[in-house]
Amino acid sequence: MVATTIGLLGAGRIGTLHAANLRALAEVEVLIADAEPARAQQVAVDLGCSAVADAEALFARDLDGVVIATGTDQHAPLVQRAAAAGAAVFCEKPLARTTAEALAVLEVIDASGATVQVGHQRRLDPGYQEARRAYRAGELGWLHTVRAVTADQFPPAVAFLATSGGLVRDCSVHDFDILQWITGQRIMEVYARGSNNGDPAIGSVGDVDSAVTLATFADGTLATVSATRHNGAGHDVRLELHGSVGTIQVGLDASYAGRSAEPGFVYPAGQVHTTFHERFADAYAAEMAAFVALVRGSGANPCPPHEAVDAGRVADAAQASLDSAVPVRVAR
Ligand SMILES: NC(=O)c1ccc[n+]([C@@H]2O[C@H](COP(=O)([O-])OP(=O)(O)OC[C@H]3O[C@@H](n4cnc5c(N)ncnc54)[C@H](O)[C@@H]3O)[C@@H](O)[C@H]2O)c1
Repeated sequence: MVATTIGLLGAGRIGTLHAANLRALAEVEVLIADAEPARAQQVAVDLGCSAVADAEALFARDLDGVVIATGTDQHAPLVQRAAAAGAAVFCEKPLARTTAEALAVLEVIDASGATVQVGHQRRLDPGYQEARRAYRAGELGWLHTVRAVTADQFPPAVAFLATSGGLVRDCSVHDFDILQWITGQRIMEVYARGSNNGDPAIGSVGDVDSAVTLATFADGTLATVSATRHNGAGHDVRLELHGSVGTIQVGLDASYAGRSAEPGFVYPAGQVHTTFHERFADAYAAEMAAFVALVRGSGANPCPPHEAVDAGRVADAAQASLDSAVPVRVAR
């Protein structure tokens, strides 16, 4: 087989992980570029692949696919650049900083016919996949209570937070996407409240460190979606689906970041997850494998851009609700 050449832009936290997962795939050549060339060079040395000077040098190469893992503010221009180059694109979430910007990118994608996969890796996580299967098979009945949790152990750098779009756009958007993906229903209205009792620097860039969103689905089903940057016990990402017939929980594995208060009951048994890298190691690997299959024309797109942008619309409404302290309808 002729090797598939993937160009990767952004060798930061998530880009380094994607590069390692791409390197682990057979017949894949990885070229890395970063705005800080020394960073790309170091990752290339660590992983035994190649670095180029910058994005333009990368696009000058003959690429089959491009993985965009830069900060969010660079996603829209780079997706359009990659689509124009005729490469299949994997773009980390979100597709763009705002929905307005994302809609402009969707127009370019649709006009060019480019293949674009967005990085909602939970769709490739075995637990979320099983929850979707069980719900859709009718094993849970109708849902009376839905609780989604995304809790980082520690906040990322404030410089990252300043360009992240805020906690609900950066973190809760994963829950909005997965809830719509599992249920096949749209979230119609959100009411979000936030708090800032941790690092004051987070408040100084206009963000909150914790938030809860009450989401209402088209059929009236309610979900609470909570997020925080300060979960000292570990990285905790879970979903509870409680139905009229059955209940299923995602994320209750041996590394769940919590402990039981019940005397004599020892749970969990293993080392807790501390980062998203560990919690979703299998999903990130599957995500890159799915992208390479898509590039080779042999797989389905696990996260088409229109669906990711719809989750972004929910996140925008949640941010508007945070700002206004009133419920907000999701604009579509
Ligand atoms: N799916 C997930 O679970 C997940 C997890 C973390 C981050 N993310 C997303 O991934 C993106 C990156 O996040 P991160 O935490 O890795 O950020 P990061 O700051 O650690 O890394 C970003 C890298 O991109 C580089 N960069 C910036 N502009 C560039 C350009 N024009 N060309 C080449 N390189 C450029 C920076 O120098 C930096 O090395 C964000 O959009 C974030 O929302 C997704």
